[in-house]
Amino acid sequence: MANKKENGYLTSKEIRAISKENRRITGEMEKKWKRKNVPESEYITKMRDPQNAVEFDDLHSYFYTDSGVVKSVDGVSFDVPIGKTVGIVGESGCGKSVTSLSLMQLLQRPQGQIVSGEIRLNRGGKVYNIANTPQEIMQDLRGNAISMIFQEPMTSLNPVFRIGDQVDEVIALHEGKGKSKEEIRRQTIEALELVGIANSEGVAKMFPHELSGGMRQRVMIAMALACHPRVIIADEPTTALDVTIQAQILDLLRDLKDRINASIMLITHDLGVIAEMADYVVVMYAGRVVEKGTAEEIFYHPSHPYTLGLMASKPVVGRKVSELYSIPGKVPNPINMPDYCYFRDRCELKLGCCDGEYPHEIRLSDTHVVSCYRYYEEHKDEAKMNTNSNLIKTAEIAASREEVKEDA
Ligand SMILES: Nc1ncnc2c1ncn2[C@@H]1O[C@H](COP(=O)(O)OP(=O)(O)OP(=O)(O)O)[C@@H](O)[C@H]1O
Ligand code: SF4
Ligand SMILES: [Mg+2]
Repeated sequence: MANKKENGYLTSKEIRAISKENRRITGEMEKKWKRKNVPESEYITKMRDPQNAVEFDDLHSYFYTDSGVVKSVDGVSFDVPIGKTVGIVGESGCGKSVTSLSLMQLLQRPQGQIVSGEIRLNRGGKVYNIANTPQEIMQDLRGNAISMIFQEPMTSLNPVFRIGDQVDEVIALHEGKGKSKEEIRRQTIEALELVGIANSEGVAKMFPHELSGGMRQRVMIAMALACHPRVIIADEPTTALDVTIQAQILDLLRDLKDRINASIMLITHDLGVIAEMADYVVVMYAGRVVEKGTAEEIFYHPSHPYTLGLMASKPVVGRKVSELYSIPGKVPNPINMPDYCYFRDRCELKLGCCDGEYPHEIRLSDTHVVSCYRYYEEHKDEAKMNTNSNLIKTAEIAASREEVKEDA
């Protein structure tokens, strides 16, 4: 029988072998999750900087599938400072959701596993390494310390229960101890009012299908914020909404964040949303961070060719649609990543040296970091030769028309 090397497909024998090996590896990892009475010394740690709410430190999260190991997140490091919004951008499939699901410990196990690295969560001085935190402690952290607003509210709200009962359940679970049903319902009504739902008493009695998309998203936000989490993950919170509702939801999120001094991890494809909301930006590509910095640095001085491509492909007022840029080619196969820069095969600005191993991080300022050979001291002269490219010029025009949140 032909094997993968000849035609690109796996034989059933190969699939069985991969699946057996996966079971062995994930079986070992699952033992760790099933342990009882894990001592605190194994998961309580220290922040590198106590001003941060979360620190992702060389996180690797993989999925062990029958076609091979999908390295969805492959060495991701970035910080989420207390009270700030960090925008995460990148092409579909680059690992944004897997990064945030790892923080919630909601990867689809046993296939999905945090393989190595740390995620440090600062809960008012007590610091948890989420990569090692036992499940029963995690249940307390989810909702109380971190919560997530999902992309599609209809899939997260239960269609057969009334809105009020679903919000009641969240409040009862997290802070309902010793409270009567009436007290919990009062808190539910307050939570619905806080997110701007008029007629909150009436809405509490409705089923999800009776609400508009914008109202459902508000309910999701009310549920996520009901217990005053320190960190809010918003995974494409406005993608399913029209532009005016989108703006209202973003205002609401910003306002609520300031009121409870929380941090937001905002995942979106929309650079406009990032410019409006984020203090810091992390640009991901194929499971890695290729550039990160303050919103000003990323928008006014985009440096990685992929970030330049994102900027150049963004519509801006006053530019003809025919001038929009599209990044050529496609993302490499996550099961079989190359051993050189993952962006090389699509990069218009590559240099002779780009065939070498994956580029390490270069610091352009205290906060601005990029992984690209163009910024290596020894290659700067060569990089200057293609700074006249159309891509750089288009990105510069987009940057000059962008208004970034001022207090970044
Ligand atoms: N349950 C799973 N099993 C196998 N592979 C998965 C699973 N979940 C995610 N992946 C893979 O992990 C990679 C990263 O996925 P992820 O959902 O994080 O992408 P994303 O950046 O959030 O994309 P999008 O913008 O489309 O939401 C993808 O290659 C995806 O196929
Ligand atoms: S390292 Fe080279 S190939 Fe990779 S993004 Fe930079 S210039 Fe392009
Ligand atoms: Mg996603």
